[in-house]
Amino acid sequence: MHVLGIETSCDETGVAIYHPEQGIVADLLYSQVKMHSEYGGVVPELASRDHIRFLVPLIQQCLLKANLTAQEINGIAYTAGPGLMGALLVGATTARSLAWTWKVPAIAVHHMEGHLLAPMLEPNAPKYPFVALLVSGGHTLLVQVQNIGDYKILGESLDDAAGEAFDKVAKMLDLGYPGGPKVSALAEQGQARFKFPRPMTNRPGLDFSFSGLKTFTMNTLNKTSKTAQDKADIAYAFQTAVAETISIKCRRALQQTGLNRLVIAGGVSANKQIRAALQKMVTQEQAQLYFPKLEYCTDNGAMIAYAGCQRLLAGQQENLEIYAKPRWAINSLLTFSTI
Ligand code: KG4
Ligand code: ZN
Repeated sequence: MHVLGIETSCDETGVAIYHPEQGIVADLLYSQVKMHSEYGGVVPELASRDHIRFLVPLIQQCLLKANLTAQEINGIAYTAGPGLMGALLVGATTARSLAWTWKVPAIAVHHMEGHLLAPMLEPNAPKYPFVALLVSGGHTLLVQVQNIGDYKILGESLDDAAGEAFDKVAKMLDLGYPGGPKVSALAEQGQARFKFPRPMTNRPGLDFSFSGLKTFTMNTLNKTSKTAQDKADIAYAFQTAVAETISIKCRRALQQTGLNRLVIAGGVSANKQIRAALQKMVTQEQAQLYFPKLEYCTDNGAMIAYAGCQRLLAGQQENLEIYAKPRWAINSLLTFSTI
């Protein structure tokens, strides 16, 4: 069984083919980052237009790379949300149309479920159940995962997502878009000079808030002469605060659930300092940390192909409707017991 995965929820056009025994047999990505960086962030209309331009050629190339014909594709998985409406519609309509033409099933995949399951593509995949920390540009979620689709939200950000905070801090520091990797690179030149708050850690609970930390960063920056070293020290202090805050909350989540496996996924999980902080914490808790390889931390077609394939194998069926849901709660998905 070969499943074609299509990801177009934001600024990357991702296409991949997954096979349950062989794993990912082909995987291509076209990133729009260069185009959006001229505007300092994602321009939704331009994102949709680029998905239209690149999606079909990428699918053709992916089939070639996998040495497969269209007749050998047995199902199509597409990101149906959450994301930008125009961008989602490109993937959803293309997937549905191809599925109709090729007479195979198509399945709507939740983008964050894709991220959450990305570590399953690694050789040492986690076993269920586990705690997952999903940290991307649009979401910060702590989830108890019993099985595919069986997600209990333990905590979430009450304001900015972690990735969003990185992107906004990058803007303050004149680093441009996308902010996460740039703040991270600058932080490596920074020293422990400023002490930033660890929001919402001095009270019980598993929710996050990054908006105050962002303001604190701005106020600290405005008190300096904004030299290169000032900016590097601020990037370091900000990143350390995010890493420690996340680590405190994840420790609590493991203790509260009694689970000993922690998965981190989503764009921010590419951050080295955050990974190192979590690694240290799980070792103290005698737990295990799992994360996707770097290219599967950020948006990609492979995670969508994998998630869709699991649902198709479990027997999930959909009608011919084209699903595009800019907002879609991850705890409302079908579980294996309801498919
Ligand atoms: O998962 P993703 O590719 O797209 C969404 O679903 O949002 O995540 C993108 C987010 C951006 O906010 C980006 O700045 C952040 O992930 N990011 C990082 C790093 N790489 C990407 N944040 C911190 N450190 C990184 N190395
Ligand atoms: Zn994403």
